[in-house]
Amino acid sequence: MLNVAIEAAKAAGNLALKYNKSRLNIQQKKDLFSSPVTQADKDAEQLIRTIINRKFPDHGIIGEEFGQSKPNAEYQWIIDPIDGTRDYVRQNPFWSTLIAVLKNQKPIIGVCYFPNSRQLFHAQTGKGAFINGKKNRVSEIAILHKAYVNISSPHQFKAAKKEEQLFKLSKSVGASRYFSSMSYAMLWQRQAEALVVAGGSIWDFAATSIITEEAGGKFTDFNGNYALDSGTAVFSNGKIHEQILKILNDK
Ligand code: IPD
Ligand code: CA
Ligand code: CA
Repeated sequence: MLNVAIEAAKAAGNLALKYNKSRLNIQQKKDLFSSPVTQADKDAEQLIRTIINRKFPDHGIIGEEFGQSKPNAEYQWIIDPIDGTRDYVRQNPFWSTLIAVLKNQKPIIGVCYFPNSRQLFHAQTGKGAFINGKKNRVSEIAILHKAYVNISSPHQFKAAKKEEQLFKLSKSVGASRYFSSMSYAMLWQRQAEALVVAGGSIWDFAATSIITEEAGGKFTDFNGNYALDSGTAVFSNGKIHEQILKILNDK
């Protein structure tokens, strides 16, 4: 399964990269603050679905662009064909293709591929996390004001009713930035200590949570629970996790 997930992520990411050099058909989703979607998002997801269905016709799939199939299957593939479409449409290199495999609601495989830099991150339960085949681990920094923390958009914090907490968190960390999907890679490569997302879905968190945990880090929602579908997420090196949760839950 891992080989198929890697093959599909590379094929879809490279297809989207090819499209990125030509004209894009951009549509706005739901409202102004939600992500745009392009023909590349759709074609990349279709390509991943074709590859999965060819090898594992009995498995279920949940994809951002085309929804769910076979919800009762034992194995569920979770797809975000382009994570970071806002960057994609501006030709910033921070976007990736995310694929996870869930068994009993828990990720057992996670793959994250950055076509621009050809960086492939992957993890399997109990086997560690890898970047281009080499084992990698999160950083050891345990002091919040020395930590580099990527924090998602203020619009998401407003929607989650966490605006004040966002301000407190931003003031408490050494550096507050956001590089969309690349923020995960920064955590996994010890270039950052955490990533705080106030609005995401299962396709944002499935692959990225298992890679984080297998790299020695921690993943919870804002309440400190393990949840792929609560909408919020803290990914960290584990050392500053509780400090971040405390601020997010300050009244
Ligand atoms: C979004 C991006 C964005 C993050 C959102 C995601 P999309 O995904 O990753 O950086 O803040 O939570 O939904 O729409 O580009 O796949
Ligand atoms: Ca996404
Ligand atoms: Ca997407």
